[in-house]
Amino acid sequence: MPSPVRVIVVGAGSRGETYSDYASIHPERMQVVGIADPRSFARSKLQKRHKVADENTFDDWSCVAEREKFADAVFICTPDRLHKDPAVALAKKGYHILLEKPMAVTLEDCREIAEACIQSGVILTVCHVLRYDPVISKIKTLIDCGVVGDVIHIQHLEPVGFYHFAHSFVRGNWRNEAESSFALLAKSCHDLDLIHHWAGGRRCIKVSSFGSLSHFRKENKPRGAANRCLDCSVESNCPYSAKKIYLDRVKEGWVRWPVSVICSNSVPDIESVTEALKTGPYGRCVYECDNDVCSNQVVNMEFEGGLTASFTMVAFTEEICERKTSICGSRGELSYNGKEISVFDFLTQTSTKHTVHKNVPGAFNSGGHGVADYHLVDAFISAVASEDPLLIQLGPKETLASHRLVFEAERARLENRVVFCETDHD
Ligand SMILES: NC(=O)c1ccc[n+]([C@@H]2O[C@H](COP(=O)([O-])OP(=O)(O)OC[C@H]3O[C@@H](n4cnc5c(N)ncnc54)[C@H](O)[C@@H]3O)[C@@H](O)[C@H]2O)c1
Repeated sequence: MPSPVRVIVVGAGSRGETYSDYASIHPERMQVVGIADPRSFARSKLQKRHKVADENTFDDWSCVAEREKFADAVFICTPDRLHKDPAVALAKKGYHILLEKPMAVTLEDCREIAEACIQSGVILTVCHVLRYDPVISKIKTLIDCGVVGDVIHIQHLEPVGFYHFAHSFVRGNWRNEAESSFALLAKSCHDLDLIHHWAGGRRCIKVSSFGSLSHFRKENKPRGAANRCLDCSVESNCPYSAKKIYLDRVKEGWVRWPVSVICSNSVPDIESVTEALKTGPYGRCVYECDNDVCSNQVVNMEFEGGLTASFTMVAFTEEICERKTSICGSRGELSYNGKEISVFDFLTQTSTKHTVHKNVPGAFNSGGHGVADYHLVDAFISAVASEDPLLIQLGPKETLASHRLVFEAERARLENRVVFCETDHD
């Protein structure tokens, strides 16, 4: 029996912890042998769970790069602006790399990562988790089988969810472009990747985009509102109240996302959540934050051969990330409502529904994109174990192409014009 793939977790936060759970389920396939994170709470939590030797725990990714190579692969799950340096350095050390999205926050840095991985001959998997969702894979299989004929138009919606947006993009880690990245990159690089994939990987010729930060601005602060929800006299009338989003949930015994990520140095309970809301970023009034990323953005694209696509990302929805898609072809229309796929055939004028088996083991089965996370790690571990990059869904070149589209779309929004992709330099 082959020995397990040895992995170092670089960034033991929410994503690093999730992916490393694979080792608890399949110890014969993967072993966590090292951890790097400046937060001792996060480090020791994973160290205990995976019985990692003291000498293999570090408070910075660079300590891993300075050591002799002692594992097969690294999971790079650091904040957005800390992807490029560890990815390039650790690829050059010969580690296979599972890298959180976005690859990096500039196109030049994305290119550098792709180059470093290609030159070092290591496998690079960027965590476009949706590619590994069995329903999303089924959509591609159906398109490739010709159920809609030639694809003519793709319409895709990403409903972020009102409290998810307030949590992540108003109060949280992705609220401010200078600290993380612009919203289309942080939230929707998955979606433009899917559109590119469903369009058969063909080249996008031109793109336009509009969007802005709506509502979560100082001028919309209600009269009488305080700067923190726990001190606020009008909080009961606010859908974005931190008390409702976090404290009411933990009081009902809910300690998972989003509650799980607001107490960075302790387990979430009523006391620690209350303290986090009194002093930390997640207790702030949503109209008094240093947020600047778009809350709603549209992107229009024309691909080679005239295929058009339209994408919408919007904060103000009930659904949380349950994407909705229509793929209109010459012979039928495929619709995905976030749960099941339906294909209407123009010839027979009948609809066929397609459901997909989505069970996976352990904590991965607990909602969100857990199922996709499981399949992503599973594919990466298989690819590393057999040194076969074809076992992952998309390699450096394709990842770079879809990231490029995101940068071009954002450029179109900022410059208020149509961008002619790849040929349009300044
Ligand atoms: N694929 C997806 O769908 C998806 C979902 C959420 C987040 N993400 C991405 O995953 C990444 C991590 O997000 P998260 O939610 O886990 O954030 P997080 O804040 O929970 O975790 C990041 C961790 O990196 C650690 N870190 C910071 N500096 C470090 C350093 N110098 N060396 C080593 N570790 C360091 C932090 O202490 C923290 O524990 C981000 O880039 C984010 O955009 C991807």
